Amino acid sequence: MVTIATTPEPQGETRVAISPETARKLVALGCRVRVASGSGRLSRYGDEAYSAAGATITETPAQALNGADILLKVRRPLLDEVKQLQTGAMIMAMLAPYDDRTTLDQLAAVGPSLFSMEFMPRITRAQSMDVLSSQANLTGYKAVVDAASLFEQAVPMMMTAAGTVPAARVFIMGVGVAGLQAIATARRLGAIVTATDVRPATKEQVASLGAKFIAVEDDEFKQAQTATGYAKPMSEAYQLKQAELVATHLQTQDIVITTALIPGRPAPRLISRQMVDEMKAGAVIIDLAAERGGNCELTQANKLLEHRGVRIYGPVNLACSVPVNASALYAKNLLTFIETMIDKKDKVLAVNWQDEIVTGTLVAKDGRIVHPNLMPKGA
Ligand code: NAI
Repeated sequence: MVTIATTPEPQGETRVAISPETARKLVALGCRVRVASGSGRLSRYGDEAYSAAGATITETPAQALNGADILLKVRRPLLDEVKQLQTGAMIMAMLAPYDDRTTLDQLAAVGPSLFSMEFMPRITRAQSMDVLSSQANLTGYKAVVDAASLFEQAVPMMMTAAGTVPAARVFIMGVGVAGLQAIATARRLGAIVTATDVRPATKEQVASLGAKFIAVEDDEFKQAQTATGYAKPMSEAYQLKQAELVATHLQTQDIVITTALIPGRPAPRLISRQMVDEMKAGAVIIDLAAERGGNCELTQANKLLEHRGVRIYGPVNLACSVPVNASALYAKNLLTFIETMIDKKDKVLAVNWQDEIVTGTLVAKDGRIVHPNLMPKGA
């Protein structure tokens, strides 16, 4: 029988890797599920909900971990936690594989198979396992709701006997998963929405959500998407043209949500201090790229600051502020992944180590880092 465990996350992390719903499904698959008491507390999942789903609640994290085959986490587990698992156990988490290499090497050295969920290949079959998408979707939604609450004016147009309240103008920069949900949310609130991106595929997506697309559409723009669907870094000449267009547009905007990222690189700088100087007093910028340096020059991670009447907020990990949904979706992503690794008849682990969703996410095995993205260049 496969034993699957989870334990409370580090301070500040509100999500949990197993929900009562996924616990029930794992039990139905023939697994033993152990949840350390209090693991789901910040996602409003009480111990009783897990018990009712057939999971075992343990008093301490150590009791949940002891000899477990699979550890499911949101963040990197502690070294001590990993040492308590079964030899050769599997760990699935958002490992932030590019951060703090020393700790990652230490975890790998204990010998588990470490899976970094952020590396899930973006193929159709793996869409339901894509943690970046499930979390970014909520982040895009929450950014607009937070911006609307910071904004000292109404968002929708209101025609009243005492006069007309104009609709707010919302500009979304970067139309990936978070950006698309931000557009949809801002539209639902009644804003006049514009959006920009460097990938041509986004033009139609923006229009289909009822927003207006704004971009420098030159030859470079036509090739800005990689085979894996991500943006390429743009040339200096393109960035200059983009900056000119953006500077003028920003002067009329009330709320700006930036989400622009390029995998494995610092966030592209799209809003300069000078551009902020020229924005309307009372405008709000929410910079979702804060963790990677920010799309706005003035952004400071996790800080709300004011510059000449413009408020700039750079929340890191906004999905944590909607933990109930974020945990439910994340846990479901993990469940779908694990389902591919369990022999349903014999109820044992049956991992196909050649499967591209396995090779794509496997960061370490048998004491060594094995992922090509984490190898020294040329190795
Ligand atoms: P991301 O988080 O890496 O980047 C966010 C957005 O910023 C992207 O749309 C990117 O083009 C844009 N960007 C980068 N540099 C920019 C610049 N200088 N100016 C303006 N915008 C800039 O992207 P995310 O959200 O991870 O999605 C990337 C793509 O992958 C999307 O097309 C999405 O639909 C696709 N995708 C496919 C999946 C699948 O097939 N399984 C699952 C999830 C996403």
